[in-house]
Amino acid sequence: MHLRYAALRTAYIIWVIKMDDELVVDINCVEHTYAGGVKVDICGKEFKVKRGERLAVLGANGSGKSTLLKHILGLIVPNSGRVTVFGKDPARQYDEIRSRIGTVMQNVDEQLIGPTVFDDIAFSALNFGLPRAETHRRVEAILHALNIYDLRNRLPHYLSGGERKKVALAGALVFKPELLILDEPMEGIDYASRREIAGFLGALHKETGMTMISTIHDMNVVSNLADKGYVMKHGGKLDLYGTITGLFFNHDLGDYNLAPPPVVTLIKELRLKGFDLHSTLDLNNLCSQITAILESRLHP
Ligand SMILES: Nc1ncnc2c1ncn2[C@@H]1O[C@H](COP(=O)(O)OP(=O)(O)OP(=O)(O)O)[C@@H](O)[C@H]1O
Ligand SMILES: [Mg+2]
Repeated sequence: MHLRYAALRTAYIIWVIKMDDELVVDINCVEHTYAGGVKVDICGKEFKVKRGERLAVLGANGSGKSTLLKHILGLIVPNSGRVTVFGKDPARQYDEIRSRIGTVMQNVDEQLIGPTVFDDIAFSALNFGLPRAETHRRVEAILHALNIYDLRNRLPHYLSGGERKKVALAGALVFKPELLILDEPMEGIDYASRREIAGFLGALHKETGMTMISTIHDMNVVSNLADKGYVMKHGGKLDLYGTITGLFFNHDLGDYNLAPPPVVTLIKELRLKGFDLHSTLDLNNLCSQITAILESRLHP
């Protein structure tokens, strides 16, 4: 009996390790040429995303971030190279993985289709076969969570840009995707809503372990949505890869037209003035470090 339990336990542990290690997205040097001749060649650092990771793709306008996401979503076909998402080729087999992927496009007008906000959010869940009552319950919950309950009967196309983005996010989350693709999710979102959305996504990630890939221009919110990131050069080259903290502290991102958050600049300046500070993106952590240093200087 004990032996049987031990065997089951080992099998379970191996399964958990395998699940943790499962590659959700694997991109191997994909090149795409748009009509008009612009070539985007996504190559350089290996682009591999494991289950449960939160990853950001950073880079200047036009560098190729949305193009990378379009490859993951099977919206464009590579001329060469290979894209695998959940073990499938998204350009040819997207229907087999569609129900596992939630998306917020950079231009959300391309994805809002329901006659009302409520219908729009419910659409994909119903389409993937979720019962009507459960869909209704989930839509109500997400409307409250994203603070857009008042918008439920409005026409999506008459909403403000930020409101539309929140509706698209609700629609992407309602069927509890395993992979969430966010192309500039915070663009046009006000300060308080950014904090709410980041908090909500953070809690959801902890609860469900969903994999997240985002592109973000606001460097102040990157660390709320991602733990690791790639920095892309013009033409699609994946030039840098590392933790978000490491990317900001160990590289000069000015070369990529990216300005680090003020906390990074402040720590770098204070280090030059002799303050021995750890790298952090958390302002409260920086304040604690400075307070401790000042106290140790006042009361040596
Ligand atoms: N549909 C299209 N037709 C032709 N060229 C395109 C198309 N979409 C993108 N491009 C071009 O491909 C390149 C990469 O564009 P992409 O949208 O991937 O950049 P991005 O990094 O997402 O930029 P942004 O930060 O402005 O969102 C750019 O030069 C862009 O002009
Ligand atoms: Mg883009």
